[in-house]
Amino acid sequence: MIATTRVQALRAAEERRYIDTHRQSAAAAHRSAARFLYGLPMHWMRDWPLPHPLFVDDAQGNRLRCLDGHEYVDFCLGDTGAMFGHSPEPVVRAIAEQAAHGLTAMLPGERLAAVGELLASTFGLPRWQLALSATDANRFVLRWARAITGRPKVLVFDGCYHGTVDDTLVDRAADGRTIARASLLGQVHDLARAAVVVAFNDLAAVERALDAGDIACLLAEPALTNCGLVPPQPGFIEGVQAACRRAGVLFVLDETHTVSSGHGGHARVHGLDPDMLVVGKAIAGGLPCAVYGFTDAVAQRMTAAKDAAPPGHSGIGTTLSANLLALAALEANLREVMTPAAYRRMLAAAQRLEQRLLAVILETALPWTVTRLGARMELQFCAETPCNAAQARAAMDAQLEAALQLYLLNRGIVVTPFHNMLLVPPMASDDDVDSVVSAVRAFVAAVSS
Ligand SMILES: Cc1ncc(COP(=O)(O)O)c(C=O)c1O
Repeated sequence: MIATTRVQALRAAEERRYIDTHRQSAAAAHRSAARFLYGLPMHWMRDWPLPHPLFVDDAQGNRLRCLDGHEYVDFCLGDTGAMFGHSPEPVVRAIAEQAAHGLTAMLPGERLAAVGELLASTFGLPRWQLALSATDANRFVLRWARAITGRPKVLVFDGCYHGTVDDTLVDRAADGRTIARASLLGQVHDLARAAVVVAFNDLAAVERALDAGDIACLLAEPALTNCGLVPPQPGFIEGVQAACRRAGVLFVLDETHTVSSGHGGHARVHGLDPDMLVVGKAIAGGLPCAVYGFTDAVAQRMTAAKDAAPPGHSGIGTTLSANLLALAALEANLREVMTPAAYRRMLAAAQRLEQRLLAVILETALPWTVTRLGARMELQFCAETPCNAAQARAAMDAQLEAALQLYLLNRGIVVTPFHNMLLVPPMASDDDVDSVVSAVRAFVAAVSS
């Protein structure tokens, strides 16, 4: 059994150890403090469970080095941006070559057609547009969906995260109502006017929401990856897809994280047939870039909507989107990095990690589990994989999570903060995997009574 007092004591001891061994990071934080809000370039970077931020000196493959010279095996990988390892050589080479010939011009380069072929052959959708981030891609997809259906609302799942897209930052209240997330800053619009939220794995609730006739699209990850990890129950996503078709609602998958399921993403691996699909983060090897694909039928409706609109701003696009550098990185990544062979290595290593962590859970008789989706997995503090966000939230224990993550970091292992996600890149060795397993076993021993 986990003893809360032991968790607290261990966390305090690990904080002291971190402070003692990360003097250069502390000094860098001190130097930045006066010029940056909270001393950081993005305020939420302070949400890592660390006494002060960790500053990166170098990142290569699945290794990070901090300013104090400590090396870490990275299973966070920039929360998926570096899913195939930091600075993949083909992407670095393509960026260097292109950088000498223009970074951005608000015009395409010759490689555009090749990029289109690679996107189509990888993900199976014929038509594509680019954006600078997955947030933007989702925002643009929503606008297109509303434009072509003439309907106002987006249907999302409780526990979703699709970036900082206003309309999707909603929660499901205890009484089932759609409400804005309490944590949002500067929220003035009533998000419930533009969004409906239902529980994941509840097909009847999806069908009821679709019946209202005011939904433009369902925007969903095929598994929730931002509220722990909640996979779809057998037939659920297929049922949602069929229900959307019956209701004339666009079935949109955000594969920004679930592209870890296998080559071509979760939809391709599991034979789904989305109307539109979004991938960001890792799609250009870590350089800011996102893509969204769609069917020929959707493309026709998009061009009809655009042609019918008066000239001027569409509300879709940003100046730096599809810049020359991003196109070069995208081509190199799709062609040489995000390959079936890379996925084979990732999935094999992820399977090893899952099995060994499950063995630790079995031998310590803890009511925990490991839920895996391809190369991504979550260590969850519940005996069974949760089936919706409410169950996933109930299994979270912020104190235990923070203590575990700090304990791992002090032993040279980085996992994704805010939940216990481990993403396994192609270069993860058996030793890398086994180092996590040993550290988790030692952590459990240290906090058990
Ligand atoms: C599923 C999903 N979609 C979209 C995003 C937004 O990505 P970005 O922050 O790169 O815009 C995230 C970010 O975590 C995500 O998890």
